[in-house]
Amino acid sequence: MPAIVIVGAQWGDEGKGKATDLLGSRVDYVVKFNGGNNAGHTVVIGSEKYALHLLPSGILTPGCTPVIGNGVVIDLGVLFHEIDGLDARGVDTSRLLVSANAHVITEYHRTLDKVNERFLGSRKIGTTGRGIGPTYADKMNRLGIRVQDLFDEKILEQKVEGALELKNQILAKVYNRRALSLAAIIDELAQYVDRLRPYVTDTSLVLNDALGRGETVLLEAGQATLLDVDHGTYPFVTSSSATSGGACTGSGIPPTAVERVIGIVKAYATRVGEGPFPTELLDADGERLRQSGGEFGTTTGRPRRCGWYDVPVARYAARINGVTDFVLTKLDVLTGWERIPVCVAYDVDGERVTEMPMTQTGFHHAKPIYEYFDGWDEDISGARSLADLPKNAQRYVATLEELSGARMSAIGVGPGRDETVVVHDLI
Ligand code: GDP
Ligand code: IMO
Ligand code: MG
Repeated sequence: MPAIVIVGAQWGDEGKGKATDLLGSRVDYVVKFNGGNNAGHTVVIGSEKYALHLLPSGILTPGCTPVIGNGVVIDLGVLFHEIDGLDARGVDTSRLLVSANAHVITEYHRTLDKVNERFLGSRKIGTTGRGIGPTYADKMNRLGIRVQDLFDEKILEQKVEGALELKNQILAKVYNRRALSLAAIIDELAQYVDRLRPYVTDTSLVLNDALGRGETVLLEAGQATLLDVDHGTYPFVTSSSATSGGACTGSGIPPTAVERVIGIVKAYATRVGEGPFPTELLDADGERLRQSGGEFGTTTGRPRRCGWYDVPVARYAARINGVTDFVLTKLDVLTGWERIPVCVAYDVDGERVTEMPMTQTGFHHAKPIYEYFDGWDEDISGARSLADLPKNAQRYVATLEELSGARMSAIGVGPGRDETVVVHDLI
């Protein structure tokens, strides 16, 4: 089996971690290809609950090799904190591989992320404050520090010094902040060098060799389609390529190797941070979804904004990513609603549109046009086949499948690994 990509089809937190974990035992490698510790994936295995940020969800599956690809930005303190936390719980983290080309997040990136948000005021993005945007900006600006730079003391000092000279000017002259010390930043990075070394390799070579041997590689996105820097609701996006195209550039695997693209889509919608969200519920219904879905950020603890399923968004994700299969998650959270609205189109300045509007203004003006579906009251967490679902839940799934542009191959009915209805095999 060749490469399989998992992407978020909405604004993140769709349940990518659970889906990756579910497939983990059947794949040889799980690769995180974008983002950093802005991601937060909760994986529930039996009575154990794990919150992962930087490590690929495959780390929890014995026998599967987790890989941090070149497209990721790494906060080394967070990486080793996460490794230590899992080691303490008896999870074997020794198989981890880290790309020599991944970029590292330093103190000036974290600082600039926070002061920049403050500077933007009402125009802020609502970032996670982890330094993600400034690190990717430096990468594109060719000022970044890569994992491989850490292994040459002279190069590291030269590169950090060059970057910091500019950052300190910005911190002091634009933001009126104290300049950061070169020695402190070098020390922060240098303390991890010996621990990091054994994990670091040419991950593109390792993965392509594995594909050559017929092994299976799962490429796991952080964030989601509408947070993608090119295809998302720019500027209210993250700074990386979270769509299936990013899986290739972020891992060094060619597009020809990708055979399947699995889009993870929640049975309703959520968003964290600022930016347009047409189906958002600002009333008691939104609060009800938030409470019953446990919609509070894994990374920052922020309450997630909640709203109804948005068909144009799902269809857009199917198109941009080439989704072959959807996994519909959290269907159980909708149990108990008398009727469930689904946004099937938008009213944009008096015109009915079924595609994502081309412009930011168009999307800001989009008002949802709803169709209503009868709900169900039965507890569905024990369902393991479509036939186990109440008729109205089956109808809801069938309609979403018909409208969203790809088949619903699995349905989440609870957070646990086994709380899944598999309709079509995903591997
Ligand atoms: P990710 O960032 O896409 O990996 O998603 P998160 O882990 O941030 O958020 C998804 C949350 O929903 C986690 O707490 C999961 O344990 C939980 N979850 C995933 N699938 C299901 C499901 O089908 N039903 C329920 N009730 N919870 C789920
Ligand atoms: P997972 O992988 C939901 C959002 C932030 C903010 C914007 C930019 O768990 O789905 P950043 O810190 O990346 O510069 O913030 O993107 N964001 C996420 N929202 N889930 C995530 O990851 C997110 N990662 C970033 O809230 O609006
Ligand atoms: Mg998350």
